[in-house]
Amino acid sequence: MPKRNPRAQPADGRRAWLVGATGGLGPALAHRLARDGYDLLLTARRRRRQCTALARELLAAHPQRSVEVLCGDIGDPKFAAEAAATAAQRGALDAVVLASGDLFLGRPSRTSAKALRAQLESNLLAPWTAALAALPALRRSRSGGRIVFFGMAGAGLPTAKRAVAAHAASKLALLSMARSLAVEVARDGVAVWTVSPGVVRTARSTPESVEPFLEHVPGGRALAPEEVADAVAWCLSPGGATGTGGELPVALGFGL
Ligand SMILES: NC(=O)c1ccc[n+]([C@@H]2O[C@H](COP(=O)([O-])OP(=O)(O)OC[C@H]3O[C@@H](n4cnc5c(N)ncnc54)[C@H](OP(=O)(O)O)[C@@H]3O)[C@@H](O)[C@H]2O)c1
Repeated sequence: MPKRNPRAQPADGRRAWLVGATGGLGPALAHRLARDGYDLLLTARRRRRQCTALARELLAAHPQRSVEVLCGDIGDPKFAAEAAATAAQRGALDAVVLASGDLFLGRPSRTSAKALRAQLESNLLAPWTAALAALPALRRSRSGGRIVFFGMAGAGLPTAKRAVAAHAASKLALLSMARSLAVEVARDGVAVWTVSPGVVRTARSTPESVEPFLEHVPGGRALAPEEVADAVAWCLSPGGATGTGGELPVALGFGL
């Protein structure tokens, strides 16, 4: 498993914990964070080998960076605490990017309580558990801690959502909690964002998961993962702190 890079610049580099490293958006986010000067802890739930391969790729492209891997379920408070401690350097952490969350598709009348609970576990409680675990270290960041949650374009409006009702409900609840947290931790220098992608074509996408939705994208095309990574990079930039509590749609008008 890749460990700290012996050639890495020690101690003073900024540190980020990226959850969802093996997902459709994960590699683009990881490359962008490394390019922007972050030493990284990469987390996925179970694809350890894929995560390790990404870590090697990052170290080859950014030899001055340090990249570690720790896989597990961020909804488990014990794992979340272990990962947050690993991500931090001398107790301080600069950013947590929470690009995880399963998608359940099904009409409301076909959404069992079990399915709804699973969506809430995956999209609300798991990232929330990770954010709380990281908060003490984020408060110690010298550059100002950042939390980036992932929503879904359009989920911020409590309108009817048809096949993604349960998913949208979990993202709406997450957005509400993110805003409330942003208000509480603003004086600690910690900024909280929710980045809400629309239709993104990733290595994990299928034609069925992209093409039918394109007619609802005013911008007329699917986004690339790198475009979502650009938005996250802006949230993490010094200027991004001023928008704490905000939702940033990255969607070319989808969901408005
Ligand atoms: N891609 C899109 O078009 C799109 C659109 C709107 C919103 N979003 C949001 O953007 C975020 C990232 O999307 P994505 O497409 O990259 O997702 P994805 O392809 O489904 O990948 C999810 C990633 O998160 C990890 N993960 C999931 N649950 C976890 C948990 N409890 N603990 C630790 N790791 C966990 C997965 O690890 P394993 O692979 O090991 O399970 C995987 O690395 C999600 O919140 C999603 O809802 C994406």
